[in-house]
Amino acid sequence: MIILSIDTSCDETAVAITNGRRVLAHVEYTQIATHQPWGGVVPSLARRAHEERIDGVIEAVCKKFVQINKAKIGTKSEENFTQRAFKDIDYIAVTYGPGLAIALEVGITKAKELAQIYEKELIGINHMEGHLYSCFAQNREGNPGTEFKFPYLVLLVSGAHTELVRVDDHLHYTLLGETRDDAAGEALDKAARMLGFQYPGGPVIERLAALSLKEDIYKFPRPMRNSKDLDFSFSGLKTSLYNLLNKIGEEEKIKNLNSLSYSFQEAVVESILIKVEQAVKNTGINRLIVGGGVVANTYLRLRLRRLLKKHAGEVLFPPYKYLTADNAAMIGVAAHYRVLNGNIIRNEAELDRQPRLSLA
Ligand code: KG4
Ligand code: ZN
Repeated sequence: MIILSIDTSCDETAVAITNGRRVLAHVEYTQIATHQPWGGVVPSLARRAHEERIDGVIEAVCKKFVQINKAKIGTKSEENFTQRAFKDIDYIAVTYGPGLAIALEVGITKAKELAQIYEKELIGINHMEGHLYSCFAQNREGNPGTEFKFPYLVLLVSGAHTELVRVDDHLHYTLLGETRDDAAGEALDKAARMLGFQYPGGPVIERLAALSLKEDIYKFPRPMRNSKDLDFSFSGLKTSLYNLLNKIGEEEKIKNLNSLSYSFQEAVVESILIKVEQAVKNTGINRLIVGGGVVANTYLRLRLRRLLKKHAGEVLFPPYKYLTADNAAMIGVAAHYRVLNGNIIRNEAELDRQPRLSLA
């Protein structure tokens, strides 16, 4: 079952072609440079960039696909790669939420247009479900061969979401906890901005922290540490940093960028770990899936690996680097299970953007 998938939920114009869990071709056009001067993603600029790029990204993915499938498809020179690829594509999947409304709209409109032209059926995918399935994506050869062993705990950590979910089988989710204010990635982005760095802040904080003496000098709070639930909160952390920076002044800040980053990252990572460990204890599940942009953080991975080892369990991360950031390959993998479950859009009008769509 070959699926072409589109994700335009935020600042990547992403398209992929997958077959089951195998990613046959993928392209992500990142808009980071467009948004950087503004300190965050500007929805109207995101929409325009998606509109300008989407046809080119689709054609580029189809070209890759046609080139690897050459023998099968045959060549007719008057056709473009998109037309040729669609001879082999069975379904079109698109992210319909959560995300920026006017950015999601671009992908949905394009998916509907392609569905009409090429007479294909549509599948709507939740972006966070995509991040979850990113851990099961494979390369063209079918590696890695990780098998599903339900149930899992799922930690989703991105720029807009921090959630703990329980998944008992394909597509069967229970929300265990979520952030009450900022997301983990958002906290890192805001902290980086206060320290004088551009969006996205997560990678900057990670780099600076790695250069520090690795001592938690500033001891920021661990919000919600003692709450009985599995919810997160990161906005207090941001306020603590703000207050500290006001207190120490510009010169001290510049001198201590590395240790400030280390302590802030430590607070974010520990806050996450406290709740993951609580979830392991509450549910007795010691297999964890982690998805979303913040999973690119090596230190977070290390700490999660250690934690699950302590509980005699295991942790799964997206197996390839491009799968940690926003991409459409993960949407295609999720769509495969949606099709098997019969979740095909019967009436195009049913497929509409849902900026606040939740997983469970
Ligand atoms: O999933 P994603 O690409 O977009 C959303 O769906 O939100 O996540 C983006 C988030 C940003 O907040 C970014 O700062 C964070 O992921 N991020 C990182 C790292 N790389 C990206 N956070 C910590 N360490 C990193 N290396
Ligand atoms: Zn994302």
